[in-house]
Amino acid sequence: MNQSISLISVFSSILHFLVVLNFCGGVIVNGDIVREFCKNQSISDVYVNYDFCVSSFEANPLSKTSDIYGLTAISIDLCLKNATYIGTYIDSILKDGKEEPIQYLKECMEFYSSALEDVQVAMKAFNGKDYNGVLEFMTDANIWVKTCKIGFTEGGIDFSPLRKQHDDLYQLIHISLGLTAKILES
Ligand SMILES: *[C@@H]1O[C@H](CO)[C@@H](O)[C@H](O)[C@H]1NC(C)=O
Ligand SMILES: *[C@@H]1O[C@H](CO)[C@@H](O)[C@H](O)[C@H]1NC(C)=O
Repeated sequence: MNQSISLISVFSSILHFLVVLNFCGGVIVNGDIVREFCKNQSISDVYVNYDFCVSSFEANPLSKTSDIYGLTAISIDLCLKNATYIGTYIDSILKDGKEEPIQYLKECMEFYSSALEDVQVAMKAFNGKDYNGVLEFMTDANIWVKTCKIGFTEGGIDFSPLRKQHDDLYQLIHISLGLTAKILES
C-alpha cells in the first residue's frame, strides 16, 4: 500500500516535471530568441539598445513564433517602414519651413532615399536567400544614414530635428546586420 502510493507520487512528479519542461521549452523557443539575440547584440554592438531591440520586435506578434530567418525578415521590414517614414517626416518639416538648415535637410532626404533603395534591394536579396547580398546592401544603407548625420556634424548644425528618426533607423539597420551575420555564421 505504502509502496504503491509512493510509486504513484513518483510517477506524478515525473509527469509534472515533463509538463513543466514542455511548457517552458515552448516559451523559450518562441519568446526568448528575441531577448537572447537582443542581449547579445546590445553587448557586441554599441549602437544597439536592448530595450529598443526587444520592443521593436514585440510590436510584431509574428516575432513570437519566428526563428532567426523570420526575425531577419521582420527587422528588414521595420527598416523599410522607418526609412519610408523619414522621407515623409523631412518633407513635413521642410513644408513647415521652421527648421533652418534647409540645404542639409534636403541632402539628408536624398541620402535617406538612397538608404531606402538599398533596403528594398536587401529585402529582394533576402527573399532570394542571398544573405551576403543582404549584408552588402544593408551595409550600404547604413552608410547613407551615417552620411546624413556627418553632414550636420561637419556643418556645425544642430542634429536634433532628425536625431530620433536617425537613431531609430540606424539601430534597426544594425539589428538587421547582426541577424544576417548570425545566419551567415550558422
Ligand atoms: C547569444 O550568444 C551566445 C554566446 O555567444 C550564443 O551561444 C547564442 O547562440 C547567441 N544567441 C543568439 C540568439 O544570438
Ligand atoms: C521606427 O522604428 C521604431 C522602432 O521599431 C518605432 O518605434 C517607430 O515607431 C518606427 N517609426 C515608423 C514611422 O515606423
